[in-house]
Amino acid sequence: MTNLRHDALDNLLEQAKKAAEQSYSPYSGFKVGAALRLTNGEIVTGTNVENVSYGLTICAERAALVRAVSEFGPGIRIEAVAVANLNNAASPPCGACRQMLAEFAQPDVPVVFPAADGIRTMSFDQVLPLGFDMQLKKTGNGA
Ligand code: THU
Repeated sequence: MTNLRHDALDNLLEQAKKAAEQSYSPYSGFKVGAALRLTNGEIVTGTNVENVSYGLTICAERAALVRAVSEFGPGIRIEAVAVANLNNAASPPCGACRQMLAEFAQPDVPVVFPAADGIRTMSFDQVLPLGFDMQLKKTGNGA
């Protein structure tokens, strides 16, 4: 799935956890952090920022992504994704975040996150097997 060393993914997970400490989550109390390792070697983190309207809340993963593009431009590619929370709970990235991250990640990119049974690593195409892509129709793959 990845050439990244195990300790590189562990380190990314640590950075995600650290990012979660900045969480603005007065409504849910759920503190999430995300860390993206980019192919340019940079690591960009983000945390969830809630809003009293609830629906305007932005997840940690998307916060990290918009930060990565804002800092390093539209050509970024994601090499690995890590998600953590400070609530001792499972927190796989939500569907909206998977779709947003997919724009910048190859199918074999590892995604590390806390699952119900502990830390799990899955490839991007496992966590998002059939994301929306306007190419799908053209290639006639049945979607
Ligand atoms: N949250 C994330 O940050 N990432 C996800 O993938 C799912 C949920 C946040 C949003 C909200 O602030 C809190 O977790 C509870 O849903």
